[in-house]
Amino acid sequence: MKLAIAGVGNNISALLQGITYYGMLDAEMMPGVAHPVLGGIAVTDIEAVAVFDLAPNKVGRKLSDAMFAEPNNYPKLGIPGLDSDPEVTFGIADPSDQSQIDAVAQVLRDSGAEVFLYSLPTGLPEVAAAYGRAAVDAGVAVVNCTPDPIAGLPELFAEAREKNIPMVGDDLQSHIGSSIVHGTVLSLLEERGITLTGSYQLNIGGNADFKNLREHGGNKESSKHRALRQKVSNTDAVTVIPSAGFVGHLEDRKIAHMSVEGRGWADMPVRLEISLQVQDSSNAAGVIIDLIRIAAVAARRGEGGFPVAATQLLKSPQKLTDWQEQVPNGRAALSALAADHA
Ligand code: NAD
Ligand code: NA
Repeated sequence: MKLAIAGVGNNISALLQGITYYGMLDAEMMPGVAHPVLGGIAVTDIEAVAVFDLAPNKVGRKLSDAMFAEPNNYPKLGIPGLDSDPEVTFGIADPSDQSQIDAVAQVLRDSGAEVFLYSLPTGLPEVAAAYGRAAVDAGVAVVNCTPDPIAGLPELFAEAREKNIPMVGDDLQSHIGSSIVHGTVLSLLEERGITLTGSYQLNIGGNADFKNLREHGGNKESSKHRALRQKVSNTDAVTVIPSAGFVGHLEDRKIAHMSVEGRGWADMPVRLEISLQVQDSSNAAGVIIDLIRIAAVAARRGEGGFPVAATQLLKSPQKLTDWQEQVPNGRAALSALAADHA
């Protein structure tokens, strides 16, 4: 499956090193992989054919070098190299410059990419829209890792659906991150009839994404609230701080502290304190690997717009129908893809 990528950051280092890493293991043993095969596409069937960045220490270099360039700090897994190792091309720096959008669209067409993965820093909505435009012009399916809207742009989304181009977005839901853990605990309280009186979620880390979120956390915070509202009806008593602090020595590790306070029978207090520690960009790559295969399968079937199977893998998925229906439909569609080993 041919993949194009914008933004050679930690997520991409985790994704591509991981694909090669799993290729070196026994195919039966894939620890940490939810779906070794999805829609007939194996984890190891994916190759990068075009990559875009702007950083002077990444552009013009082979992807296998660029993915280790600063400030990337995902661990080195000791893989020998990448089977498909394109050079990093200069991408879109000025989203108002149509010639840059056209150049990216042309590289996408020439590369034969089936899926375009958008993985830039959060907080660049015009740039996100410009890359989305280029992918739609080139007829390539889109996966958006970030909370800056691409699938969430109504006109672009409608055009993609009309042209049978899949649009998977927005904002990936980490493999086992603070949103899903926090949301699950809050929904447990709701289900058991404990009254929530207050809750917070603080995230700290030491990678470029964290540094950036301290300044551009707006879309991220609302996207994280949307993720919680997939699980509970009301998040008024919940404070979410996507980036509470940059702690350099943590590098690409992330620590989330969650606190939940409520009241039970006779107004007596209940309190939970949860600490979650993860490798931040493994947490992204473990879901990107499914999102890009969902997009590729939809593209191969000529199904444009939002593939329902991606619903629970995103923080801000497109709402197609009644939410109560879409969640179980999404789960069923994902299981069906996982069962397809053709
Ligand atoms: P990163 O900062 O490590 O990488 C971003 C890359 O984009 C860098 O290489 C940078 O040079 C490049 N870039 C900047 N502007 C560009 C442009 N105009 N064109 C092309 N490239 C450009 O970030 P990351 O950790 O890889 O995360 C990527 C995105 O995924 C972020 O927006 C992040 O918020 C989002 N996300 C991550 C997680 C997770 O890691 N668990 C979860 C959900 C969402
Ligand atoms: Na990351």
